[in-house]
Amino acid sequence: PVVASLAAMNATAERAAQLRALLNHHAHRYYVLDAPEIPDAEYDRLFQELQALEAAHPELRTPDSPTQRVGGVVLDGLVAVRHALPMLSIRTETDTTAEGARAFDARVRRELGLGDDAPPVAYNAELKFDGLAINLRYEDGVLVQATTRGDGETGEDVTQNVRTIGQIPLRLRGEAPPLIEIRGEAYMRRDDFERLNERQREKGGKTFVNPRNTAAGAIRQLDPAGMADKKLSFFAYGLGDQRGWAQPDTHSGTLDAISAFGVPVSSDRRVVQGAEGLVAFHQEIAARRDALPFDIDGVVYKVDAIALQQQLGFVTREPRWA
Ligand code: IVH
Repeated sequence: PVVASLAAMNATAERAAQLRALLNHHAHRYYVLDAPEIPDAEYDRLFQELQALEAAHPELRTPDSPTQRVGGVVLDGLVAVRHALPMLSIRTETDTTAEGARAFDARVRRELGLGDDAPPVAYNAELKFDGLAINLRYEDGVLVQATTRGDGETGEDVTQNVRTIGQIPLRLRGEAPPLIEIRGEAYMRRDDFERLNERQREKGGKTFVNPRNTAAGAIRQLDPAGMADKKLSFFAYGLGDQRGWAQPDTHSGTLDAISAFGVPVSSDRRVVQGAEGLVAFHQEIAARRDALPFDIDGVVYKVDAIALQQQLGFVTREPRWA
């Protein structure tokens, strides 16, 4: 009988692991790829099966279980966390004409000691998302901590609220390194913001001013219950601390890898050559800006080769390469 019950326990643990993997897979299809493979009712059935297993065997509950996205406690205050690597800001170019992009490219070329005859520098051009900067810390592929940027040196622990964001994986897909911090912006889509305000009006509650403040306020609130009516989204744009990972040698390749880990990365990004490539990207985004499903604050240009980024380094808190 002891052997039989051990076998049953094993089977239960295996089923729980299988359900976690299945549910995490389908959450990625649904929230990140927007391409579900199963009906919502089937997802709910699998979810309830896992919930029942965990209720009967609490020891089977793991931090990457999809059941652990909700059910946090009301906090007394947010705990300060010192960043393993500071969260930097980027220099804002006030000249938004083509001259601004040319001046940036000229500065990069000068710093790299490139003559006029040297080939154009490759840049990754991307969007500047208008939300709240978040650092996601994954150990052995499991989300262990989420922090705000704060003053760049020290942020706040917002793990329990960030765990409720369906787009953010609780476990990375594929071969995850022992440690990787993925940085990006939590934001609210315009349609989700409008729907929220519509519901507020229906129930006679106060409406919210803009998506950015709503997202930032939601993530920094002490009661995780307040996340329930706020659908937030996330775009990764870079890395923090990492250990044991062969990082690709370009920023664009790094974003591809982050996307393969199952973390959302905007597809509105492109590797372009030289100043004229930056100008073309800027003009294209300016023309599409109002039609984007979320607010942006501009565009960001980054030198694509990590080796060149390292050569360029930083001035005070700002990279010379962005
Ligand atoms: S890169 C070293 N990329 O802008 C470079 N930041 O001033 C670090 N932001 O609050 C940042 N979109 O959250 C980077 N595509 C993007 C971004 C982006 C928005 C925000 C970021 C930070 C501020 C940096």
